[in-house]
Amino acid sequence: MSTQQNWFKILMDCKNNVEKAIKPHLKTLNDPQPDLGKGAGGDPIKPVDLSAEKAIINTLQNHNISFSLISEESGFEKYGNTPEECYITIDPIDGTTNLTRGLPFYASSIAVSKKPIMSEVYAALVTDLHHNISYIAQEGKGAYRDGEKIKTSQITTLQEAVLGMDLNTYKVAEIAPKLTDLIQQSKHIRHYGANALELCYVANGLTDAFVDIRGKLRTTDVAAGFLIIKEAGGLVTDIDNQPVNVKLDPKQTLKFVASGNTKIHETILKLVKH
Ligand code: IPD
Ligand code: CA
Repeated sequence: MSTQQNWFKILMDCKNNVEKAIKPHLKTLNDPQPDLGKGAGGDPIKPVDLSAEKAIINTLQNHNISFSLISEESGFEKYGNTPEECYITIDPIDGTTNLTRGLPFYASSIAVSKKPIMSEVYAALVTDLHHNISYIAQEGKGAYRDGEKIKTSQITTLQEAVLGMDLNTYKVAEIAPKLTDLIQQSKHIRHYGANALELCYVANGLTDAFVDIRGKLRTTDVAAGFLIIKEAGGLVTDIDNQPVNVKLDPKQTLKFVASGNTKIHETILKLVKH
């Protein structure tokens, strides 16, 4: 498949099939959700993760696409005769804990790239599966929320800013003090438990930036969200203000700041301690 071809329809088909595939699991919310071992990204796999992954793979195959899969669950797999044609980086369900508890914030994330490198991602979809809202982007063509063009926030001061911030469990005693100044100077902070979708909130200007310096989050969670933010006019860097150009690999983790505009980005970076 050429990079010029329109991925919007294919990605939306993936989303529709993921929605169908997860429905039976939503009916079992009060039942125990068994762990099916560990995924390639190192987290426990639930049946719903595998159902969503299968739905994405089947949809791409039905479109006769040859691809190399990079998935948080199955890791690396090749499909079709020319799998080097494109790389599909997915987190089938981002926010599995939310989903299995009935917390209404979980997503599916799909990124398409020419090579298994973050900078090569050229098409992306993140779907808010609970509210059935899709965020989609193609390189050079902008970012859209359910078909409407979106733009990042133009708020430039922390006093007015609502920042997404992930302090979720990992090395919190080490990480939290590095963010104290930033938290103190911001208007509010938020964390909802599905970072792929929280990146779309930055893209849509609902939040002004998102900060995750735990060094735990995987490329599978963010590959799609990063393109959506950039296409919406925002920016993403590491904490040294360098481009986050890492390998797309479920084991590859990263620290990053994603912001609606350069001014607030630089202010945030000055306050994040190394
Ligand atoms: C998780 C979510 C959560 C973040 C965790 C991730 P998962 O993704 O993005 O917000 O705090 O670090 O693992 O495991 O539900 O795909
Ligand atoms: Ca996941």
